[in-house]
Amino acid sequence: MSSIKENINTTKLPLHVAIIMDGNGRWAKTQGKPRVFGHKNGVVSVREVTEAAAELGIKFLTLYAFSTENWSRPTFEVNALMSLLVETVKNEVNTLMKNNIKLQAIGDLTKLPDKTRKALINGIEKTKLNDRMTLVLALNYSSRWEIVEAVKKISMEVSSGKLELENIDPNLFSDYLTTRNIPDPELMIRTSGERRISNYLLWQAAYAELYFTEVLWPDFRKEDFFKAIFDFQQRERRFGLISEQLQEVQ
Ligand code: IPE
Ligand code: IPE
Ligand code: MG
Repeated sequence: MSSIKENINTTKLPLHVAIIMDGNGRWAKTQGKPRVFGHKNGVVSVREVTEAAAELGIKFLTLYAFSTENWSRPTFEVNALMSLLVETVKNEVNTLMKNNIKLQAIGDLTKLPDKTRKALINGIEKTKLNDRMTLVLALNYSSRWEIVEAVKKISMEVSSGKLELENIDPNLFSDYLTTRNIPDPELMIRTSGERRISNYLLWQAAYAELYFTEVLWPDFRKEDFFKAIFDFQQRERRFGLISEQLQEVQ
């Protein structure tokens, strides 16, 4: 069986792919199982896309694991997700080391349970020198939270005289976001058929190509990821220009 992977142009890869991993609950429901069963099975997909992205040579992969809004889910589900995170990070650190993948996190980590935060910080510390790919987990993350935090920091620096109002521009603003050392995502994937951004990387995804698939997250496999990359490569990214201008610079 030939894979779609062979049709991917490895010289035209998105530098950064961001994924909204959605549909775990619905997947579990189709099996007559509780929602948490879906989250557990979603870990397999995390492993698959991480491997697939690294195999292709993608440099940054950001996965939306828990949003600020997700705290409002039933306590049982929130607790299960937090424990699953600890377990997954602990179990996967060796694989990340073996594959030379660096772990990072964006979001308000101070609000995570101690165990979850410690496991995460430990994983980040252990893998910090790896340089094949960076895997970013968006945890207790939301764009509006992040943007407001940036505004607060900037305001403080302006009022203390450390920063001049005239020097504030989009580039400088980006440096105050949690993604300061991460390039903007060029491709954003959402699974499960939902077509919304759900407070994810609003600033950073200004020019991201959006890819929606009906596949529920626990069913998402390497081949589905390759399909999204191939689709991305068929698009013309114009950044406000007209098609003819893009031909000229090629
Ligand atoms: C995504 O799956 C995982 C998280 C948001 C943590 P969901 O749990 O949102 O699954 P659905 O969308 O209810 O099916
Ligand atoms: C977005 O999924 C958050 C994560 C994938 C972690 P949700 O399932 O929480 O989003 P909505 O509620 O459908 O917009
Ligand atoms: Mg959902």
